[in-house]
Formats: sequence, structure tokens, C-alpha cells
Amino acid sequence: MPEKQRKILVTSALPYANGDIHIGHLVEYLQTDIWVRFQKLRGHRCCYFCADDTHGTAITISSRKKGVTEEEFIAGVSKAHQADFAAFGIEFDNYGSTNSPETRRFCVEIWDAIRKAGLVEEREIKQLYDPVAETFLADRFVKGTCPKCGKPDQYGDSCECGAVYSPADLIDPVSVLSNTTPELRSAKHLFVEIERCHEFLADWVANSGALQPEIVNYLNGQFLSDALRPWDISRPAPYFGFEIPDSPGNYWYVWYDAPIGYIGSSLQWCEKHGEDIYSWWKDPETEIHHFIGKDICYFHTLFWPAMLKSVGYNLPTKVHIHGFLTVNGEKMSKSRGTFILARTYLNHLNPSYLRYFFATKTSPRVDDLDLNFEEMEAKVNADLVGNVVNLASRSAKFASVTGLGEAYPEDGGLFAAAAGISEEVAAAYEERDYGKALRLILECGYRANKFFEDAAPWTIRKELAALEADPAADPAAKEAAFRKLQDVATVSVNLFRQIIVYLTPILPDLTAQTEELLGCRIASWSDAQTPLLGKKIGQYKHMMTRVPKEGIEAMIEETKKLNTPAPSAEPADAAADAEPAAPEAAVSDDQWKDSGQPLFDEPMSETITIDDFLKVDLRVGRIVEAEQVAEARKLLKLKISLGGTETRQVFAGIKAAYPEPEKLIGRLVVFVANLQPRKMKFGLSEGMVVASGPGGPDVFLTFPDEGAKPGMRLH
Ligand code: MSP
Ligand code: ZN
Repeated sequence: MPEKQRKILVTSALPYANGDIHIGHLVEYLQTDIWVRFQKLRGHRCCYFCADDTHGTAITISSRKKGVTEEEFIAGVSKAHQADFAAFGIEFDNYGSTNSPETRRFCVEIWDAIRKAGLVEEREIKQLYDPVAETFLADRFVKGTCPKCGKPDQYGDSCECGAVYSPADLIDPVSVLSNTTPELRSAKHLFVEIERCHEFLADWVANSGALQPEIVNYLNGQFLSDALRPWDISRPAPYFGFEIPDSPGNYWYVWYDAPIGYIGSSLQWCEKHGEDIYSWWKDPETEIHHFIGKDICYFHTLFWPAMLKSVGYNLPTKVHIHGFLTVNGEKMSKSRGTFILARTYLNHLNPSYLRYFFATKTSPRVDDLDLNFEEMEAKVNADLVGNVVNLASRSAKFASVTGLGEAYPEDGGLFAAAAGISEEVAAAYEERDYGKALRLILECGYRANKFFEDAAPWTIRKELAALEADPAADPAAKEAAFRKLQDVATVSVNLFRQIIVYLTPILPDLTAQTEELLGCRIASWSDAQTPLLGKKIGQYKHMMTRVPKEGIEAMIEETKKLNTPAPSAEPADAAADAEPAAPEAAVSDDQWKDSGQPLFDEPMSETITIDDFLKVDLRVGRIVEAEQVAEARKLLKLKISLGGTETRQVFAGIKAAYPEPEKLIGRLVVFVANLQPRKMKFGLSEGMVVASGPGGPDVFLTFPDEGAKPGMRLH
């Protein structure tokens, strides 16, 4: 009996835009993709929406480090994230950004609703403020000595000793942004009084059926047994995010707009497809399924339902919560080479291996799951290559000779048995118990391989060849041998095809290869119910190799390298420290015996942080015009191109050193691009060309090495 068509909206957590996708993330995106592919194959209307989570202080800091605007930074990250997802076969119906007009629209709509519901209150709070960086400091941007155990260099919210405190309690707090002592300032914040939703949430948690039993226990034990603490939902400027319309100068905290990004992404899709957004978010017939990790459970199971409830949108039908990935039994680690980026994996291994392996480990429980490379290798090689792919390669060899028969032969009930587990396998997928689904599917594979072995088609093939070579052979005997061979091929190819139908959500690439081999699409879960008959079969093309051991090793090596800073990144004085002895001995040639005069004339400045340095935006520029300024004794007027159409005019005091300015045209220079423009007698000077030397004829421009391009940043 076919199920009624369901309408299902699915999301994965929105990955933060301040980092690359790694294999831990893939635990989530792969299991969601598998679930969505399963629903689509079952014939349901199902859409998978995701987006980058782009707001907050961390993004501002990362973009400053790169010397780009926040918008430029998140655009680059979004591209990289989407490329990684696509390479792993993760197919979104829409991939958006929280920094979009669509998300903003719903931030406003939901805000109005929670204001109307009387959930928002205003309070003064004291927070550490960095007067140098001119920003309030989130907990992780303050470090200091733990007020409990006295350990130095601890974060603003917690210590390695387990103590939890507020940043204002730290002893000797230091802002990690500027390395200066922050001050305590008070500022107005907006709070959501989530306690006013306590009764509703307690009921929803207990009775909706949306949550796994262990999550219900956790929420009851940790949160709902007490009053729910008000949620600080605003941040004062400067903050990369959306300004709160009725509270100018304040911005919504990143975790307010993050889940609203689910709706923003849905709206983008609806607008492209002429659909009504409310038919997805307000129609009680539509199911909403969120896939998230256990670390962000609180936001999705308490705040998010409270917000949705206030605005009258659908509550989550189910929040599917998974555990964390460990590698070889331990937390992913940069130094061990197990903090593996999606990109690094792709450089060495077939993404299908990981899709398959994670699927074997996926269960409806919240337990952590382990990626052990030996186990992955063994499972992929034995189950996937040895059992499933092997069945295809052996049986297709005969089927391409005989084609598939017109009628399905007697097979001892194998096809019927595999067709019969359809609903059990489907239920396992639905429950996110992919491990169970795979066990059922692989059983079919073992039985099919056994059938093939027992039928020994290679001996039939030999008989047939002998008969064909014998001109006196009885045509009826020839025909019978051919039929016998065709029967074995027809059965084994069809048993293989059934397995592939069931594996389609996990291994879409293998399905595509099978479709090519059989010349027939696999479009529906019910394709496993009817055999494919009366068809020619193409030549078998290689489908999947065993896991290459060298690939795993190379991937780990590359990961380790990524996390070892390049020698040039080491501060210069660290190198000096390492080699204090006998400079004379090290330098055999006198040509490098430099005088100490310049340093003596102009002593070294005080130490600055990397953030101080990065405030100066140094760029490669090209001198495109250079001319004398008649009235000025020392100045040349230069036009500097920064690439594209960006140019700057500067007046540089280098006339004595470069008396023939036209010789400078075309040369690359180092240019201070973010210096405040200065009005001079002869015009505006919009920056500075970097040079050294005491002055007069002794001025030396700094020229970038060959290959540098105008606009490149120096760091
Ligand atoms: N931006 C938030 C989510 C906002 S949702 C409205 C966030 N981003 S994240 O990039 O840190 O994580 C994205 C998802 O990946 C989360 O569900 C998280 O649990 C999951 N994982 C990140 N690292 C993981 C592992 N090592 N193992 C398993 N899942 C992990 O949280
Ligand atoms: Zn401590």
C-alpha cells in the first residue's frame, strides 16, 4: 500500500562561516543528505535547506586578518563550503546565507511577534570593553587568570579546572584583540524572558514526540527543573549582524538570526519556484525536520520552539540529534593529523567510502561515533567492494552476453525475499538507523553472491562455448544452455539492482553507474519490487576500488602539514634565539657584515601585536604616472594603481633620490592603502609609498618581488 505523499522540510545546522568544513561536520551533512535522498526516492515532496551562519565578532576578526570586508570574507567561505558539500554528493535544494534580506525579513517578523507576546525586556549589564579595539568583548575574546584555581591564560567563561565564571571575575583580564586591559562598561541589552514559555516548552518536550528520549531527560534534568534564565539576545555596536529596528545601535546576537536562516533559505527557494513560504512554515500538514549535533541542542529544543510558537509557525516535527565524531577513539586533533578537512580528504580518497562508513555508524541515538581508519578500510573493502560491487562485476560479464530474459526465472525465492524487506529497510532509514538498514541490505548481497557461486555460470558458459564450436551439436541443447546461462545472469543482475535501489540514498554515485550499466533509471524505492526483463546490458565498467592504504596515510600527513606553521610564519627573533652562538663562524663572507648604524640612528619601536600590524593595509601598487611638482622642492606626484580601476594619487618626498620620475612608471611599489588622506598645498595625498633611508638622495623605494600583482596585500 503506497504511503500518502508527505511534504517535508529538512535542515542541517548552518555551518559557521569562520572555518572550513571538516569530517566532523560531514557526520551531520551526510546523514541529512541520505535521509533527504531516501524521502525523495520514496516519492515524498522533500526540500533540504541550509545556509552559512555568517554573523558575529569572530567573522569580523577573521575578515580583518584577511584584510577584506566581512561581506567579501563570507562570500569566499560560502563558495568553499558549497564546493566541499557538492564534492561529497550533498545536495541542497537551496544554500543561502544568514546575511540575506530574506533572513532579515523573518528576523523582523519574529521579533515583532515576541515583542507583542511580551517576551522582551531591557536591562543594563556590565561587560568588558576593549577601548583600543573599540568593541565589547565576547567571553572567548578575554583571557586571564582563573579566579578559582589561579591558573593563568584561561578564557573569559571557563577554566581548564572546570570552573565557570563571568569574564568580569577573571583576575588580570586581557583582551585577546589588542592585548590591553579591558574595562568594565555597562550597556543596555535586550533579553528574551524564556521562562514565560516554561509551561509550553515542558509540555512540548514531554509530549510532542519530536525529541529522542535521552534528549527529553537531559532537558528536563538540566533546564526545565528550574526557571529558565533570560536569554541575552542583543549586542551593542560594532557587531557584524542585523541592527535591531526598534533599538538602534544594538544588533541581534548571532544565535538569534542563525535558526531564522532556515526560513530565509526556504524563502529564497520559494521565490525561485513560485511557492508560498507559509505553505512550508505554517501549514500544519508540512513536516519540519532539523538535523543537529548535541552541542547545539539547547538552541534548537528550547529557544527555537519558543520563537516559532510566538510567531505561529510550525513547530519542529522532529529534531534529529547526533553525537560527535572521534577519530581512532580520540577527539579530532590537529597535531595527530586527525582534524581532517573535507578538502584534504577529497585530495586522497573517494567520498563514497566516507558516505558508506558514516552510514554504517549512524543510529537514532546521541552517542558519539568513531572513525577508525582500519575499520573503514575493512568495511568498505569487504562489504561494499567484496560483496556488492563484486556481484555486479561478475554477473554483468555474463549478462552482457545473454541480455536479460523475458520472464523472471525461478530463483528459490531470493527476489521475493529482498522485495519483502522493503518496508523494514525503509523504516530503518526513516528512523535514521542506517546501520540497521545496511545490515538488512548486505544480507541480500550475501545471499545473491551465494546463488551466483552455486549456479557456477562459468561452467555453463564453457558448455555453451563447446556446443557452439561443434557443428553437429543439437540446436535444442545449445538453446537450453544459453537459457540456463541467461537465467543465472537475469537473477543475479536483478538481485544486484534491488540492492542498489536500497543503497541509493547512501551511494548515489554507485546508482548512477548502475543506471548506465543497465540502461535504465532507478527513480523510485518501489523499483525493488519488479525485476528488469527483456533488456540488453552494456559492458561492465569498473565501479569502485578497494580503499588505498597510501591514500589514508597521505591524508593524515597532509593534515599534519596544514597545521604546522610554515617557517616564514615564525617570528624572526625566535630564529635568532635558536642560534645564539658565533655569528662570525656562520658568516664566512665579509660582504654581509652590515653596519649597526641604521638601527642606532633609528632604534627599534615597542612590540606590537599581529592585530596592530594588520591595521596597516599594505598593498602592492603600480606606479602608472609620475611627474615633478614644479613648486615643490622634494616632492614627486605619483598615480598608483591598485589593480582594476582603483587608483590613488600621492605626493612622495623622493624627488632628490629619483630625479627622473618617468623611469619609475610601470614599477611595483609597496603602498600604505588605508592611511587617512591628507590635503596638501598641491592636492590630496591618498596614501604613502613605502621607502627606507634617512632622506634626501638617500631614499630607497621598496619594490615587491617579481610575480606580485597590484592589489595584493602584504602580511
Ligand atoms: N553555526 C552553528 C549552527 C547554527 S544552526 C542555526 C554551528 N556551526 S558549526 O559549524 O560549529 O557546526 C555545524 C554542525 O556540525 C553542528 O550541528 C555541529 O554539531 C556539527 N559538528 C561540528 N563538529 C562536529 C563533530 N566533530 N562531530 C559531529 N558533528 C559536529 O554550530
Ligand atoms: Zn581554574
